[in-house]
Amino acid sequence: MAYDAKFKVWRGDADGGALQDYTVEVNEGEVVLDIIHRIQATQASDLAVRWNCKAGKCGSCSAEVNGRPRLMCMTRMSTFTEDETVTVTPMRTFPVIRDLVTDVSFNYVKAREIPSFTPPPGLEPGEYRMQQVDVERSQEFRKCIECFLCQNVCHVIRDHEDNKQAYAGPRFFIRLAELEMHPLDVADRRDLGQDDMGLGYCNITKCCTEVCPEGIHITDNAIIPMKERVAGHRYDPLVWLGDKLFRRRS
Ligand code: SF4
Ligand code: SF4
Ligand code: FES
Repeated sequence: MAYDAKFKVWRGDADGGALQDYTVEVNEGEVVLDIIHRIQATQASDLAVRWNCKAGKCGSCSAEVNGRPRLMCMTRMSTFTEDETVTVTPMRTFPVIRDLVTDVSFNYVKAREIPSFTPPPGLEPGEYRMQQVDVERSQEFRKCIECFLCQNVCHVIRDHEDNKQAYAGPRFFIRLAELEMHPLDVADRRDLGQDDMGLGYCNITKCCTEVCPEGIHITDNAIIPMKERVAGHRYDPLVWLGDKLFRRRS
């Protein structure tokens, strides 16, 4: 059954902006992105919104809906009561370009800082052998659609612009973990994670895991194992002794 919903949508650009009120028709089965498109089609043709697939797979339509980071195309209007005002704002962690569109290039800079998969020298295609458990770990992390909702919600950079230099964020901790725990990757990525990507800033609040639309266990399966690996590498007395002895001999 159709009804009229009240929407507040943030309009503006890098110089500032404000919430604008809209009253707009909602039909059965629609999602927030449908309503944003209806506002664009009928009331605000210059409303900027980024989207591509409308199927929860491209990661483009990330925004904050009633303060919660979400994919607009996967947020059903039936989530809200008919008399509830729905507020849609751009992701807060990234600079606004216009309206609901943010500049997420920070993430691509961080992505480039992670060295790619490094197989052992001489390993030929067809010689790769992995246990199923290792395959499944990679598959879980590779479900990431790069919506950057986890990056947006992470308090380390959400409220602290100055941390962005030294912090890569949860999306890249799963990439780091995937490679570090990959049985055929020979690069040691523990120092990179701790010193350059800021793994130590994360205090395992799990907010990233809660908002991930792909259900990736970011903290339990990637961040905590990486922290354990760093701690074992740096603070295990036997590892420390081994390093000392090896250095002395060499
Ligand atoms: S668990 Fe760590 S990475 Fe995830 S939101 Fe919290 S501080 Fe950020
Ligand atoms: S890990 Fe999840 S929340 Fe983060 S970018 Fe990937 S899909 Fe989005
Ligand atoms: S439009 Fe592709 S994830 Fe929403």
